[in-house]
Amino acid sequence: STPTAVAGLEILFSREQIHQRVAEIGRQIDQDFAGERIILVGVLKGAAIFLSDLARNISIENTFDFVAVSSYGKGQRTSGAVRLIKDLDAHIENKNVIIVEDILDTGLTLCFLRSLFEQHKPRSLRIAALLDKPSRRLEKIDADYVGFTIPNQFVVGYGMDYAERFRNLPDICLMPPDFPE
Ligand code: PRP
Ligand code: MN
Ligand code: MG
Repeated sequence: STPTAVAGLEILFSREQIHQRVAEIGRQIDQDFAGERIILVGVLKGAAIFLSDLARNISIENTFDFVAVSSYGKGQRTSGAVRLIKDLDAHIENKNVIIVEDILDTGLTLCFLRSLFEQHKPRSLRIAALLDKPSRRLEKIDADYVGFTIPNQFVVGYGMDYAERFRNLPDICLMPPDFPE
């Protein structure tokens, strides 16, 4: 892999690889929900960029919504400590809902959101995660659409941050363990 111009970080997935994979997921969603409408629910803030690209690669009618959950430093999160900061605007009862996440890590966030949304009795509830880190899982949960499965490496870019930095990088990059704050 080649170094990025920004921050000198090593690229794990280039913007071209990401865009190709996002287009494939969009086509898959079009097939799976042919003739129906869907609501894409992005989880702030990390999923904002993936959602905006994914939505533009979906041809069937779709609307956006966003939720925000409490965010603790990685590794400092205790099981079940996810809290809702911003709720859905949309009524999802009897609707097709796809939760859009940048990364599925321990699964705490998506497990929490899945059970929360299920209480509203959606017609269907699926999960699209651009990245999946199965080795870190603490909850039994899988995404229906996965961009890339990765080992336990800290990644930034394409919405993902290190202390709020680097979300704007167009490529997904590796954050070295010794990177200065
Ligand atoms: C990150 C990431 C996912 C979540 C995944 O969000 O964007 O939402 O963690 O981790 P989990 O599977 O262990 O729950 P973060 O809490 O860093 O907030 P952010 O999206 O605002 O960066
Ligand atoms: Mn997030
Ligand atoms: Mg984060």
